[in-house]
Amino acid sequence: MIEMNDKVAIVTGASRGIGAEIARQLAAAGGKVVLASRKIEPLAELAAEIEAAGGEALPYACHTGKQEQIEALVAASVERFGKVDVLVNNAATNPYFGPMMNIDDAAWDKTFEVNLKGYFAMTREVVRHIQGRKGTGSIVNIASVAGFMAMPLQGVYALTKAGVISMTKTLSVELGPDIRVNAIAPGLIDTKFASALTQNQQILDIVMQKTSLKRVGQPSDVAGAALLLASDAGGYFTGAVLTVDGGWSLG
Ligand SMILES: NC(=O)c1ccc[n+]([C@@H]2O[C@H](COP(=O)([O-])OP(=O)(O)OC[C@H]3O[C@@H](n4cnc5c(N)ncnc54)[C@H](OP(=O)(O)O)[C@@H]3O)[C@@H](O)[C@H]2O)c1
Repeated sequence: MIEMNDKVAIVTGASRGIGAEIARQLAAAGGKVVLASRKIEPLAELAAEIEAAGGEALPYACHTGKQEQIEALVAASVERFGKVDVLVNNAATNPYFGPMMNIDDAAWDKTFEVNLKGYFAMTREVVRHIQGRKGTGSIVNIASVAGFMAMPLQGVYALTKAGVISMTKTLSVELGPDIRVNAIAPGLIDTKFASALTQNQQILDIVMQKTSLKRVGQPSDVAGAALLLASDAGGYFTGAVLTVDGGWSLG
């Protein structure tokens, strides 16, 4: 059993899908969790579920592309729990599906704002807090296999995920030895985000042909890896990118 030992973790994009399951697993392992995404209602519901199961959770509305909201999120986390030890950067967006050459500037900017600048700005705020109290910590970035594969029709999304992988490696060097920085690269996971892919039989057949485990992943498949990297059980991981894709990217 992996223990979080009262560590305080902010999970972005926690209202559903992969982020919600990561928050559940961190809380079940004894972590105190701050649940962040734009809409408060689903976060409040998840916080109630976690507290009913004996955990501790703070729901907090935050757009992770907005610096002032990020600062308010970290301040509220410290006010409630006294500190932050772990950040799971998970909130991402993919507003455009189509040939890369045809993306407009607004969709490009939104994708970069949330998926890359948002991950960086969240990391900077949490790292300043951890370093300010001379503490230790763990940053877990949810990237994607899209960051190291050709990804026709999702090219700009993939570009931001490649950026997340690059940022993970550089920051793991710059922030050691006190702060570990790792990434997870999920394959196709059964969430709202991926429903356009999981409900398209043609796309599903192509992915499954190359997926050794012959199934779409579940959010819990990713959450187990996040718990490992967030906790002391993952204490010698830094700069790592854990692929959680049932073998798809090998095929
Ligand atoms: N599902 C897959 O197949 C797959 C594969 C590889 C990687 N991933 C990655 O896994 C992560 C989670 O994806 P998912 O599939 O769980 O997606 P999801 O079910 O659509 O959940 C996305 C979460 O992000 C939040 N969010 C979106 N924009 C936000 C913003 N600007 N600020 C704050 N929160 C925001 C959403 O809540 P609100 O709408 O309330 O803000 C929601 O909680 C993403 O980084 C994604 O790129 C997913």
